Amino acid sequence: MERLIIFDTTLRDGEQSPGASMTREEKLRIAKQLERLRVDVIEAGFAASSNGDFEAVRAIANAIKDSTVCSLARANDRDIGRAAEALAGSDNKRIHTFIATSPLHMEKKLRMSPEQVFEQAKLAVRFARQFTDNVEFSPEDGYRSEADFLCRVLEAVIKEGATTINIPDTVGYAVPELYGEFIRSLRERIPNSDQAVWSVHCHNDLGMAVANSLAGVKIGGARQVECTVNGLGERAGNTSLEEVVMAVKTRRDYFGLEVGIETQQIIPASKLVSGITGFVVQPNKAVVGANAFAHASGIHQDGVLKARETYEIMRAEDVGWHANKIVLGKLSGRNAFKQRVQELGIPVDSESEMNAAFAKFKDLADRKAEIFDEDIQALFSDESVTPHDEHFKLLSLSQHSETGERPHAKVVLSIGNQEVAAESDGNGPVDASLKAIESRVGSGSELLLYSVNAITSGTESQGEVTVRLARAGRIVNGVGADPDIVAASAKAYLSALNKLYSDVERLNPQTSLAP
Ligand code: KIV
Ligand code: ZN
Repeated sequence: MERLIIFDTTLRDGEQSPGASMTREEKLRIAKQLERLRVDVIEAGFAASSNGDFEAVRAIANAIKDSTVCSLARANDRDIGRAAEALAGSDNKRIHTFIATSPLHMEKKLRMSPEQVFEQAKLAVRFARQFTDNVEFSPEDGYRSEADFLCRVLEAVIKEGATTINIPDTVGYAVPELYGEFIRSLRERIPNSDQAVWSVHCHNDLGMAVANSLAGVKIGGARQVECTVNGLGERAGNTSLEEVVMAVKTRRDYFGLEVGIETQQIIPASKLVSGITGFVVQPNKAVVGANAFAHASGIHQDGVLKARETYEIMRAEDVGWHANKIVLGKLSGRNAFKQRVQELGIPVDSESEMNAAFAKFKDLADRKAEIFDEDIQALFSDESVTPHDEHFKLLSLSQHSETGERPHAKVVLSIGNQEVAAESDGNGPVDASLKAIESRVGSGSELLLYSVNAITSGTESQGEVTVRLARAGRIVNGVGADPDIVAASAKAYLSALNKLYSDVERLNPQTSLAP
């Protein structure tokens, strides 16, 4: 059976989502999880976009052994040279170079003639081939490009040695049948098309990224899908890795293709990406949403109990969900905790990280009788476990709300080494608490997003809060979890403030680049 190559771009295209920027260490953690997931290609970043992203690509190229590591590069010598330098430590590397080919992008963005773009594309691939024989070429906005011109460019870059040809639907404009036909006709018209692997790269602006990618595979004959964990990506996101993988596996009868993905690593990957980026997964999201395998209606529950295939087309365990069981409690010791963390496949980089997580677990177990796997996973998404510099820390919080009265909150924080108290009224207890914090910190940031999600079911669940802040062109996300959602909100706000004030570089390839 033919194999479908899974190319993950969570660390490059996914990271372009507002606030999803990651530190080098966070990128490395995700890359290691992607390797455990056995993705074929990891697009680690865009080496020329900043020194920080260069270092992240380099660290990933040096650490990852089982997946190909790739860097994006514009079609010019400097970008390609930087990509090659960052990837030098890898035995299994790819350079991915791109230039826009649609009339709109060439004229308005690049201000180049089609002839200039044609020449630059060829030169770029020729130059990239000096560093590796694994070169991918993308005509940006390819789906809105003029077919005759695209055929000329693609034939020429294959002649120059491009081994993968990717057709991006950069703006999410495609519909499945037309996108599939477009790729098929390119492959039919280009005489040397069989010398490259064809790839799909879709954005989800019309909610069709996965459908378009699969049509590119089925109708167009593409054998590589570019995708991200949880469908993370700018605007409405990219093609979701887990949906493509499970569609191809579950409907093997239809697609007739194999994927090399270790599917039980899907949920750990989803949780890691969501925890690090602060992009919470919607509960009804296919495969990785909290409700994806929950049967609420009586008829469905009855059917599943009698024969699970009545209403289930995939097994929750196969994608890494564990039954919602009580695993640990107040009396559990460090060894039991450590063992469960290992069973859940949570990567822990240092003893100090494990110690911090265990201290948090003890604190949680004092307040919550039943600790579920999801609670343990949340301990590790909580920023204070990972070694961020915690300039702002919540020491205590109290708030009062009563029907007919304006809620009031008091907080005690540590700011650096100083302990400070503040209080404020607000529209609700969360508003009052965040205003109290802000009255002390004075960040002047704008709150772009506030969302609460229950980690497990039931009212005793912990609340997981995401806060997105913007200041002076910088956007960051903070995450906090606690059985008390007001405290979770304060923690999330402080975690976002810690990122805003931290001098650890947060990477965000492409955002600051001219074409
Ligand atoms: O969407 C796009 O066009 C891209 C390319 C750089 C591959 O991400
Ligand atoms: Zn893209």
